[in-house]
Amino acid sequence: MPTDRAETTLNGKKFAARGSAQSCHPRGHSPRAQSPANENPAWLFFRRWAANPVSIASITPSAPSLGRLMARHVRREADEIVVEYGGGTGAITKALLDSGIPASRLFVIERDKELHAYMTAKFPGVTVLLGDVKDVRSLLPPQWVGKVGTIVCGIPMILIPAEAQRLIMDEAYAVMPKGRQFLSFTYSLRSPLRRQALHLSGKRLGWAVSNIPPAAVWGYTRD
Ligand SMILES: C[S@@+](CC[C@H](N)C(=O)[O-])C[C@H]1O[C@@H](n2cnc3c(N)ncnc32)[C@H](O)[C@@H]1O
Repeated sequence: MPTDRAETTLNGKKFAARGSAQSCHPRGHSPRAQSPANENPAWLFFRRWAANPVSIASITPSAPSLGRLMARHVRREADEIVVEYGGGTGAITKALLDSGIPASRLFVIERDKELHAYMTAKFPGVTVLLGDVKDVRSLLPPQWVGKVGTIVCGIPMILIPAEAQRLIMDEAYAVMPKGRQFLSFTYSLRSPLRRQALHLSGKRLGWAVSNIPPAAVWGYTRD
């Protein structure tokens, strides 16, 4: 049972635990007293997972190798934008930026308020939208609706009920021109989306084996 002196270790770092996940903080740092961008991302991710395990679905952020694999399959047309679903603490966002996608062409949708505040502070040039991906059409500035070149999805699609999945995919393809890809990663051996039921063509594009756990990236189009 946690006491005032209890400690826990995550990714090799020690944290003081004071009775609940919400009140835990890295030793010597109070997240409440500092800018959101200065919070330890591994700890923030873990805290938000503890508060909402179904939505966050993983206790650690994605590995850089998974971000790079996704970034390799992103279109880079001058008149299009990239939209990332579920930014978390920005593991995939960073890989997208490092791959050369301009911050001004990257939009991230995150529905967790703390993670949204962190992402906004951490990636000042990126547009981080607070909301649910099912509302992508109304969240995006109107001039970019229909001009999304790739959606890079970091939300756990495989865990989402069929009807909600259908709504998310219908809205995703409503903001993309025909033939554009919806990228999704999964820890499963099978497709995270039911291709036939959702009228999708899709295939596995590769594995990021050094991710914990190993993750596969899938690419989907809808005619
Ligand atoms: C598995 S985490 C991935 C975070 C990050 N992309 C990564 O790979 O490390 C899923 C993220 O999606 C967010 N999320 C889940 N469902 C969402 C939804 N319907 N709309 C917006 N964000 C969502 C969660 O808050 C969480 O930050």
